[in-house]
Amino acid sequence: MTHYKDLGLSNTKEMFERAMKNGYAVPAYNFNNLEQLQAIVNGCIESKSPFILQVSKGARNYANETLLRYMAQGAAELINKSEAEIPMALHLDHGDSFEICKSCVDSGFSSVMIDGSSLSYEDNVDVTKRVVEYAKKYDVSVEGELGVLAGIEDEVTSEVSHYTDPDDVEDFVKKTGVDSLAISIGTSHGAYKFKVEPGQDPPPLRFDILEEVEKRITGFPIVLHGASSVLKEYVDMINQYGGSLEGAMGVSEDQLRKAAKSAVCKVNIDSDGRLVVTAVIRKMLHDKPENFDPRKYLGPARDELKEMIIRKNNEVLGSAGRY
Ligand code: G3H
Ligand code: 13P
Ligand code: ZN
Repeated sequence: MTHYKDLGLSNTKEMFERAMKNGYAVPAYNFNNLEQLQAIVNGCIESKSPFILQVSKGARNYANETLLRYMAQGAAELINKSEAEIPMALHLDHGDSFEICKSCVDSGFSSVMIDGSSLSYEDNVDVTKRVVEYAKKYDVSVEGELGVLAGIEDEVTSEVSHYTDPDDVEDFVKKTGVDSLAISIGTSHGAYKFKVEPGQDPPPLRFDILEEVEKRITGFPIVLHGASSVLKEYVDMINQYGGSLEGAMGVSEDQLRKAAKSAVCKVNIDSDGRLVVTAVIRKMLHDKPENFDPRKYLGPARDELKEMIIRKNNEVLGSAGRY
């Protein structure tokens, strides 16, 4: 058993209390490799932003769970050596069983998500409660989910989204004891969140549902998944350099600014990072066909990702300088 406090990590409790009180959201960035980790950590150190480093089941399979954990521990040491004094949580994204959540708690994660959203309400309550009972012993935070986001959630794929029913949230939170709740208000995972005619804006998020949820569980931290904006600049760059991402569309940054001021305390961003990295790598390989040193295309991709993260923290989520 490795406890997260021995690794210099924080759980999400205090982070969310401060975010709720001060009207901003803590960013949760996914990572799978060294360059993403460097960009996230250094971007959050430079913008002095608390942050959540998240690891999906797919990331654990891709990079190896032990390596990822030591990389995260290295990131915590980097923060300690810097002047930033920002809290960092290590979080399991979309855990789909009690066993994977337990394995993460035991190996030093400070927060886990148990995603029972594809189960019946009763089964979701049961598995979430079991995870909370275990995690509580070690002061590890637990995020649950109610409602289904369209798109791919690791190995769980849903064609359509089911908005969260505000009538369920109070009962779910009370019965399970979760520390935060992911809800479905119109976002989805990936780079194709909305289908609209060319030139038209995507539909607004269902802030009416969010407001209803806030009424039922006032002051309770809400999590927004699928919150990438699918920045046009990078989609265009990918298409310009041989990629094909027709009709990609994300959540507008204005909608995210509004969400960050509400009870939404955690905003999940993965696809935006993937797009930046892919765009820059495509451009570098095109511009410098003679290069075969991966550092010469991964390095610029990493640096651009860091800048994107600094901008998100500063201009969208409002988390910069909140340490
Ligand atoms: O919600 C899903 C995250 O973007 C993680 O994606 O399962 O492909 O690692 P992944
Ligand atoms: P995006 O695909 O919009 O980045 O969402 C990421 C996410 O919700 C990770 O859990
Ligand atoms: Zn998600």
